[in-house]
Amino acid sequence: MRIDGTPYRTIWPDADGISVRVIDQTRLPFAFEIVRIATVAEAARAIKTMIVRGAPLIGVTAAYGLALAMREDASNDGLDRAVAVLAATRPTAINLRWALDRVAGNLRETPSHERFARAFSEAGRIAEEDVASCHAIGHHGARLLADLAKEKGRPITVLTHCNAGWLATVDWGTALAPIYVAHEMGVKLHVFVDETRPRNQGAALTAFELNGHGVPHTVIADNAGGHLMQHGGIDVCIVGSDRTTANGDVCNKIGTYLKALAASDNRVPFYAALPFSTIDWTLDDGVAQIPIEERDAREVTHLTGRLPDGGFATVEVVSPGSPVANPAFDVTPARLVTGIITERGVAEPSTEGLLALYPERRKAA
Ligand code: MRU
Repeated sequence: MRIDGTPYRTIWPDADGISVRVIDQTRLPFAFEIVRIATVAEAARAIKTMIVRGAPLIGVTAAYGLALAMREDASNDGLDRAVAVLAATRPTAINLRWALDRVAGNLRETPSHERFARAFSEAGRIAEEDVASCHAIGHHGARLLADLAKEKGRPITVLTHCNAGWLATVDWGTALAPIYVAHEMGVKLHVFVDETRPRNQGAALTAFELNGHGVPHTVIADNAGGHLMQHGGIDVCIVGSDRTTANGDVCNKIGTYLKALAASDNRVPFYAALPFSTIDWTLDDGVAQIPIEERDAREVTHLTGRLPDGGFATVEVVSPGSPVANPAFDVTPARLVTGIITERGVAEPSTEGLLALYPERRKAA
């Protein structure tokens, strides 16, 4: 997708062939900086500090991180250590584990002097597959949006939470891909963007993306969505996911569940958009089984923003001394989800619905 008219991906191999470059998402929307990642420690740090974030992009970065580790120590011990370091960076997004398993599985039988090259190209393949999946999600979801616009006979309104756009993947995004494709098709739509406290991925990143592509949108406080739905202001919700269980429970950024409850109460369709790498086939009860990342209290107690003189400042916003909790994700049970938009089409949020799209998993079960 584009920044100031220039096409970018969120991660790409550097010309030196031994490192990757990423967009530093902690600096957006006010500064555009590119960071070089040349070691497994730098890859782990980039994921942990959220220089890169979003489930699919975390997975691709971890895949490249494992490749870079093979330049430093290509032994089996080195491989195990690198997998452990990268897997520990963020616990909720399953794409991380999925990508590590795929790259590591490929390496076990590979002679150590070939491991770096093999892992680096496997990471590249994962990145390309992610782009193709997200683009396909865009086409399937855009069809839903086009049908809805036709049915309503007027421009439609879409609510989204967090950032599940191209910045959260390698390109295109998950929840935002249908919006981009529909916008390109000429479907008239307006996106309501939840600011998404505490880190404000909606206000900072989703709004930045939509601005860059000329998609009409309005940023709202997280608490405003229910009110808009009650007054007919939202036609459809589309969110991404960090992990979706085999029965269709959708784990996503904290606050998603509340939007799904409001959508259900107001009969607003609620879709999750995600690639196959986000489905955890080993789990069937998201609320009980998905590990929810607890992040630093400072994300709640402090806010960073731009000052009128262009400088940046971090300010305290919580009464000093009050205890703070910061769960980063929640789970929306399948019963509140209208459909799951995948690269293979739209699935019913149930075990049967997902298996109908992924019949090879039925054989594996
Ligand atoms: O904590 P983050 O910013 O990594 O969380 C991102 C989200 O929750 C996204 O909605 C999710 O990863 C879906 S991404 C395509």
